[in-house]
Amino acid sequence: MKDIQEKFNILVIDDEKGVRDFLSLLFTGAGYICHTSEGGKNALEKAEKILPDIIFLDFFMAEMSGLELCKKLKNNPLTSSIPVIIMTSKDDYQIKMNCLKAGAIDFITKPLNPLEMTIKADNYINLRQYTALKIKNALLKETFSKIEEAKKEWEQTVDSIDDVIILTDRRDVILRTNKKLLDITNTPYKDLLGRKWQDVLMENGFANTIHDNGEIDFHHPTGKYFKYNIYSTNPTATGEAQHISVVILQDITELMLLTKELEKSLNIVEKKNEELEKAYSQLKSAQSQILQQEKMASIGQLAAGVAHEINNPTGFVMSNLNTLSKYIARIKEFISCQTETIEALTTTGLKGKSEYIERLNEKRKTTKYDYVMADIDSLINESIEGTERIKTIVQDLKSFSRVDETEYKPANINAGLESTLNIIWNELKYKAIVKKELSDIPKTKCNLGQLNQVFMNLLVNAAQAIENHGEINVKTWHEEDNIFISISDTGCGIEEDKIGRIFEPFYTTKEVGKGTGLGLSITYDIIRKHNGAIQVKSKPGEGTTFTIKIPVIP
Ligand SMILES: Nc1ncnc2c1ncn2[C@@H]1O[C@H](COP(=O)(O)OP(=O)(O)OP(=O)(O)O)[C@@H](O)[C@H]1O
Ligand SMILES: [Mg+2]
Repeated sequence: MKDIQEKFNILVIDDEKGVRDFLSLLFTGAGYICHTSEGGKNALEKAEKILPDIIFLDFFMAEMSGLELCKKLKNNPLTSSIPVIIMTSKDDYQIKMNCLKAGAIDFITKPLNPLEMTIKADNYINLRQYTALKIKNALLKETFSKIEEAKKEWEQTVDSIDDVIILTDRRDVILRTNKKLLDITNTPYKDLLGRKWQDVLMENGFANTIHDNGEIDFHHPTGKYFKYNIYSTNPTATGEAQHISVVILQDITELMLLTKELEKSLNIVEKKNEELEKAYSQLKSAQSQILQQEKMASIGQLAAGVAHEINNPTGFVMSNLNTLSKYIARIKEFISCQTETIEALTTTGLKGKSEYIERLNEKRKTTKYDYVMADIDSLINESIEGTERIKTIVQDLKSFSRVDETEYKPANINAGLESTLNIIWNELKYKAIVKKELSDIPKTKCNLGQLNQVFMNLLVNAAQAIENHGEINVKTWHEEDNIFISISDTGCGIEEDKIGRIFEPFYTTKEVGKGTGLGLSITYDIIRKHNGAIQVKSKPGEGTTFTIKIPVIP
């Protein structure tokens, strides 16, 4: 008790100096620290400042009565819990009641008894101590239960994690662990403590693999995989005994399964890819075969047109030659009659002259010599014109048929258009009036044979789009570094939802045998190879315009 007493403070409030001195001496002697005040405001201030463990308060004081002071001390939250003992010289029941009501804990009647004073001081201070301890205890209990609850919560949390969490000391010895380790090793908690975690795993059939990147896996023959990580706490200044590591064994079984599945899927995708590539190359070769057939078909189509164009002049040249040969026979007949007449007249010395002349005249009439001579010129002129026409067609055919040329040479696109128009004239002339507006455009490096094929595809499509009779307009112009060619028709047009499909290979709306659906896809390909562009504008029922842009390459 002495030890404790030495720390305790007593405040004596009395307006009589004699009492203050007496009590100060008494309590100091008993081992307390004794403060004194003569009452009033000063007493309240001191009490607030010192916060004594007990107050001895005189009842009768001049500045402020003990009762009033007691009330003030009890009303102040800082001083309200300090026990107040009232000292009174009057053993009056009413006074005592009033003091108790004001919060005083006890009374001492003057004259003061030193022994009673120290005993009361000891008792009330002990009582206060005891109460404070009780409160502390209750608080501690509450704190402990909160800690216990938090610990439980934490354990539940850690146990609900699907990874193994182990707390170890610096020698890998298990200090704590969550439930997962118990589950995977089938070992009770107490048997795990104090053992090295690696030993526990190995004993339970786990093996480890060290990967190239330094990562270590633990795996179990039943197919469980764990990746492990160690997190070390920094040893504090208090020493190495505090060194704790957290070992986490992450369950990566599902991840491994997924990876395997993924690898399988990848293999399948790779295989499918190979198959697809194979199919693609087959398709490519099939396409080139079809393109070959398409070319053959267009050559056939061309041949028919050309034959028709050549047939006509050849026909009349032949018939002219026939006529000419008949004319020659008649001329020959007349000339031989003439020769005979001349010979007869020279040998007979002009005897029977009139008879010979009559015979010659007769021949002139029967051979229609004069008519024949007059007709020969027109027959020859007509035949020359016919052969000229054949020559032009053959020349156009030659320029058109540069399809297989792979070289890009400077060429005049207008000339290409002209020769293509001539070649397919037979296809167009019954279907449309063809109007040309070919402006002066520069030569450009291109494969004219291929471009001719483009023009032919577009012109034939235009003619085929016209049901009865219409108009086809062919225009060329030049803007900055580009040449533009437009081919428009007054045909059936293309529905808006079909426009997106017309460049697809094999897309055709034409009846079987009439179209393969390759014309525009070949066209697109050729224009793309020329770094150009092709655009289409169409209105169903009104017509279609294809515009091609080809860059000028000098
Ligand atoms: N000028 C046009 N007017 C209306 N429709 C057109 C025109 N040009 C193309 N088309 C439409 O586009 C389709 C595809 O044309 P594309 O030239 O590729 O094939 P095709 O003419 O049907 O057959 P191919 O040209 O192989 O003989 C045609 O079937 C037609 O429906
Ligand atoms: Mg076509």
